[in-house]
Amino acid sequence: MIPHRIAVLGAGGFLGSHLVPALLERFDCSIDAVDLDFDKLQQSDSRLRKLRGRIEDPRVLAEATERAELVLSLTALCNPAQYSTIPLEVIDASFTHLLPLVKSCAERRIRLIHFSTAEVYGSRAVGADGLPTSEMSEDSACLQLGPVHKERWSYACAKQLLERVIWAYGEHHGLSFTLIRPFNTIGPRMDYLPGVDGEGTPRVLACFMNQLLRGEALQLVDGGQQKRAFMAVSDMVEAVCRVVERRRACERQIFNLGNPGNNVSIAELARQLASVYAEQQPHAPPARFEHISAEAFYGPGYDDTAERIPDVRKARRLLGWEPTESLSQMLPGIVRDYVERYRDRVAPPQQARSA
Ligand code: UGA
Repeated sequence: MIPHRIAVLGAGGFLGSHLVPALLERFDCSIDAVDLDFDKLQQSDSRLRKLRGRIEDPRVLAEATERAELVLSLTALCNPAQYSTIPLEVIDASFTHLLPLVKSCAERRIRLIHFSTAEVYGSRAVGADGLPTSEMSEDSACLQLGPVHKERWSYACAKQLLERVIWAYGEHHGLSFTLIRPFNTIGPRMDYLPGVDGEGTPRVLACFMNQLLRGEALQLVDGGQQKRAFMAVSDMVEAVCRVVERRRACERQIFNLGNPGNNVSIAELARQLASVYAEQQPHAPPARFEHISAEAFYGPGYDDTAERIPDVRKARRLLGWEPTESLSQMLPGIVRDYVERYRDRVAPPQQARSA
């Protein structure tokens, strides 16, 4: 049965801004959307109520979950640059601040769909026997995090511990839940551009778009040979809608949601993005690429995952779902979105040089 009242926590972020309109279109439901701002979720709809506030504020939590039959929890600080620069805030956002939510869902019999992360697998795919595998599997992988002084893993560790808390509430206290581990989901409205609508270092797609728009060299961390499997946000939205629909099949399940078919090196992503940008902006200067060490780019405490390929057999089987969009299909729309949103707010390369 589809829930009539859904609370979406973190609704104003990248994923939330795609999910909320899709849920409203697909289901006969009303939504309480919670976030600090809703710049990315411009939609207004009589069935949509926007609540501004922090989920760690008990009043906000109470108001958001008051009438909810289902909670989708998306809040997090999920940029790797933050994991080693503000690790305590990252741990609080991924773990401490969400404990009351999990408890409340268990006590009040609210179904919880929680967004965890592919980061929980750690630095490489490892099977139950401790040996390397090609894909990361939900129910058999060992979760291999680096040493404590590599603060990169603070986020993965906090997310993993919350998964274990949710699991325990499910096993021992009747919590109805599904855990989702997104793998590098990209699309329009992702992240911010530093110096325009945010500060610091966003994820790789926004870093590269920032550099293309400013006519600066795309920076390939440690040469860019590390790989990621990129998935279109539309494929993510379809999978999540199916998780909402198929409650019984998804009960106490963990799902990888990603596209193993789009596994490319970061250097290859940079090359493809630059070529799509050049097609759309023929007068832009030719893209340049430069290598930079992880230490110079992120500072101390950073560590990386060499390759992160999801095993999506369970999602195929239980959701009847298949990710469909290739990288070459999704990049033109993403580039167009960045150009339209930021063209007038970023100094064009010539101006930037003469300034
Ligand atoms: C991050 C988060 O930690 C995950 O939780 C999240 O699921 C994932 O992004 C996501 O996008 O879904 P990661 O893939 O390491 O994980 O983050 P990115 O910042 O997108 O970096 C990807 C790779 O590009 C890394 O190897 C990084 O070193 C590299 N990179 C990043 C560059 O080479 N140049 C840049 O300018 C930025």
